[in-house]
Amino acid sequence: MENNFTTNSLVEKLYCSKCGKVYDYKQIQTFATCCEKPLVFSYHVSNNISKDVINSKDPSIWKYASFLPILDAKNIVSLNEGNTPISKIEKLGELIGIEHLYVKDETGNPTGSFKARGISVAVSKLKELGIQKCIIPTAGNAGGALAAYCAKAGIHATIIMPRHTPKIFKEECEIYGAELILVDGLINDCGNKAKQINKDGDYFDISTLKEPYRLEGKKIMGYEIAASFDWELPDYILYPAGGGTGLIGIWKAFKEMITLGWIKNKLPKMIAVQSSSCAPIQAAYKDPINWKENFKPQMSIANGLAVPYPFGMDLMLQVIKESNGSICTIQEEKIKDYVHLFCKKEGFLISPEGAATYMALKALSDKGEIRKENSVLLLNTGSGYKYIENVL
Ligand SMILES: Cc1ncc(COP(=O)(O)O)c(C=O)c1O
Ligand SMILES: [Zn+2]
Repeated sequence: MENNFTTNSLVEKLYCSKCGKVYDYKQIQTFATCCEKPLVFSYHVSNNISKDVINSKDPSIWKYASFLPILDAKNIVSLNEGNTPISKIEKLGELIGIEHLYVKDETGNPTGSFKARGISVAVSKLKELGIQKCIIPTAGNAGGALAAYCAKAGIHATIIMPRHTPKIFKEECEIYGAELILVDGLINDCGNKAKQINKDGDYFDISTLKEPYRLEGKKIMGYEIAASFDWELPDYILYPAGGGTGLIGIWKAFKEMITLGWIKNKLPKMIAVQSSSCAPIQAAYKDPINWKENFKPQMSIANGLAVPYPFGMDLMLQVIKESNGSICTIQEEKIKDYVHLFCKKEGFLISPEGAATYMALKALSDKGEIRKENSVLLLNTGSGYKYIENVL
């Protein structure tokens, strides 16, 4: 189906997230070279913009195109990403005494994860600016999403993935016609390989937060969450944090909606969930200067959590601070048991990353930090089916 609506993008500027220096958003941009930090878009948002700007007929993230940076609707590359359901998790809520427990389930996205959201916006921007080749280091899901969207856009995709990633993540890249390169190591090693391949700058590098477009697509989760809760947000949001685009994006959306006057109550506390096998946010929070010294990242069966050196670290820490949230590190060895618990009690094959958010909730409620009257939203960021070989 052709998109036949105008974007009416309210984009205002693109700026360095550290010093505020403005970059030309009409040109292709990567990160802020002034401070080696992510670039971030802002929009002309004010409280005289009504919810009529939401195109309720569009079944995808593009219903919020006014808050996305694509200027011409003909460049939108969409596979109907987003618009995912939020449901109540009754039995597992009862088990830990949390009555108002919800999950936003990203399973139904194209290629089975929330990565489709950000990649849809990034590939649309590549199309808008006539870029023909891109490269991505990935823990798995972003690679599959990039392969699919590039297939639709007719753009070449090179995907670099850890060799230990479950088979289906690799196979989906190939079936969508992308070039797949496997690396022994974690996503940071894949990032180094991508830099080496791209030493002459032939490719556009879609590494997390080293370009500003994926963040905007992920942000739409925040708009959808607010709309689903009738613009009254839950008390806590638990997010499985790897590179951090979702965490940063959801918070960015909430702040935009405060300026728009759309959100009625206070903002949620944002909880970044990490695995004990790779918990850099926890490490950086405890020791901001020397955290890298004794840091020994390992793989996780929640592949998306094994991101040892996130480029967006400062922005994640800022979200945690601004929201009065926290970081919760769960035990890697127990993730599998919790995936099984969701299957057996809820008939829901949750991803290991999603299961990790429930484990964090249990830990925080055991400690009395989250109380039984609190409303809590977990993010199940991808389909558990892709991880079967990790969780059997
Ligand atoms: C299923 C899943 N959850 C969470 C993450 C982490 O995402 P983010 O980079 O937004 O922190 C990933 C990243 O690969 C993922 O695939
Ligand atoms: Zn700067």
